[in-house]
Amino acid sequence: MIDYKKIENCIKEAGKMVLTANLERASVEQKTGDANFCTEYDVKVQKFLIDELSKILPEASFFGEEDTNNNIKDLEKEYIFYIDPIDGTTNFMFGYNHSSISVGLAHNGKMIAGFVYNPYVDEMYKAVRNEGAFLNNKPLKMTDRAVSEGIIAFGCARYNENKVDVLFSTVKELFLKSLSIRSGGSAAIDLSRIAKGANVIYIELKLQPYDYAAASVILEEAGGVITRIGGGEISLLEPCSILAGTKKAHKEVMAIAKEKGYTSNF
Ligand code: IPD
Ligand code: CA
Ligand code: CA
Repeated sequence: MIDYKKIENCIKEAGKMVLTANLERASVEQKTGDANFCTEYDVKVQKFLIDELSKILPEASFFGEEDTNNNIKDLEKEYIFYIDPIDGTTNFMFGYNHSSISVGLAHNGKMIAGFVYNPYVDEMYKAVRNEGAFLNNKPLKMTDRAVSEGIIAFGCARYNENKVDVLFSTVKELFLKSLSIRSGGSAAIDLSRIAKGANVIYIELKLQPYDYAAASVILEEAGGVITRIGGGEISLLEPCSILAGTKKAHKEVMAIAKEKGYTSNF
């Protein structure tokens, strides 16, 4: 039996490291590509999580954002934790107070649990496969809203600018059909918010498995759908595009994406 309560508690502990960070003195490293940062807290939080999660599930391996040597061979292990220690690093650096710690667990290549914690508002989204999704222990069941009935969210990183014109033209079309539009800067939170009913769609051209692995379980357990923009299955091994939403909104956006020429494996 996996002790999910222990996992949740250790993520909350990691949340305290984010809340008490000294941003003025934090060292920041520039990674490959434009505006792609890693602060000392990204590294510290990831190390803390790997140390603690290893005690809870010693046989697990890790696919994390900050230097875990993400090796496909390791990813064939029975249990894999997908970790984004701070999803929303740019927000974190600039004091937006809107970032999350994202931890997903896969078993034999299938996501079985997900935790997305926003420490600033103490919101813990969590789900275990076939056991439902929860926000701070309150069950989440989304209403199947259409694009015209809700808020659209999208993400776009400066280091992933390829095809940005197609994305923005899709986003413009969605904006004109919807009630409003947001870009929160933490994909994990934006995706989890679909489970809560706050967003009807999340769209982004390229995300890494650790950005969406945890949220994918939360979203699906609440009744939502997550695929690539062209409809193909999401990958747990390499980056891919993401289109997530309520069933209705996802279907509508898929039709728009087809018109725009997105192929299913895009
Ligand atoms: C980023 C955030 C952002 C999304 C980017 C991600 P990071 O993650 O999730 O919302 O648009 O594509 O890379 O770098 O802050 O962990
Ligand atoms: Ca991220
Ligand atoms: Ca990150």
